[in-house]
Amino acid sequence: MIDLPSRKIPYVSIGASFFPYFPDFTDFPDFTLSLRKTYCMKGKSPKESHTIMNELVLPNDTNTLNNLMGGRLLHWMDIAAAISAQKHCNRIVVTASVDNVSFKHPIKLGDVITIEAKVSRAFTTSVEVRLDVWAENIPSGARLKSNEAYYTFVAVDQNGSTIPVPELIPETIEDMVLYEGALRRRQLRLILGGKMKPDDATELKALFFGGND
Ligand SMILES: CC(C)(COP(=O)(O)OP(=O)(O)OC[C@H]1O[C@@H](n2cnc3c(N)ncnc32)[C@H](O)[C@@H]1OP(=O)(O)O)[C@@H](O)C(=O)NCCC(=O)NCCS
Repeated sequence: MIDLPSRKIPYVSIGASFFPYFPDFTDFPDFTLSLRKTYCMKGKSPKESHTIMNELVLPNDTNTLNNLMGGRLLHWMDIAAAISAQKHCNRIVVTASVDNVSFKHPIKLGDVITIEAKVSRAFTTSVEVRLDVWAENIPSGARLKSNEAYYTFVAVDQNGSTIPVPELIPETIEDMVLYEGALRRRQLRLILGGKMKPDDATELKALFFGGND
């Protein structure tokens, strides 16, 4: 339920519809955010945030064994994921968390890294981004899946205050599987981040205890 502010809200017409026009967000932020979410934000599909980034592993990216350093890969993944989140939100986003990342195979000097990112679910002000990473040896053509990961981003305004994000509407079966799992992953990361009590993690409890407390 929205408390209507005493001040009159002007409306602008777009086609046959009328939308509220918000000249000053600071006057009644909760009200304007609710209305903007209802009237002005349409849901988006995962393919709208799909991002592909390629990098060539150069000497400066490697350790003394000529393998790509893990921190450099995490940095590239952060950039690809942030681009994807920004495409979905059309806003500045900040990294809120990075889920556990394991490195399955060493990536060698001269390999080409391909990082694919797309939003897997949107919440209120945050989005979860799914990443898939491949390493390709160009002379041999061998291509190996190196990592999968989830990054969470929060949309912020110019003052750093959090703002609502558009809903994500899954399209394919794969999108739906990622979308369904996102609630459990979110609860786990919020517990680990000290933002949620384990007792409140209903999805996780249902997974482990079959819906019984
Ligand atoms: C991320 C940040 C904006 C969250 O701000 P906050 O005041 O703690 O916000 P809230 O507790 O109101 O949470 C806002 C959103 O962030 C999410 N969030 C907060 N901490 C989180 C975490 N550890 N993991 C995942 N999501 C998190 C919340 O779930 C919430 O999402 P929702 O609105 O979709 O439900 C703030 O902590 C921040 O600016 N952090 C620094 C970001 C940064 O500099 N990143 C680069 C790191 S080097």
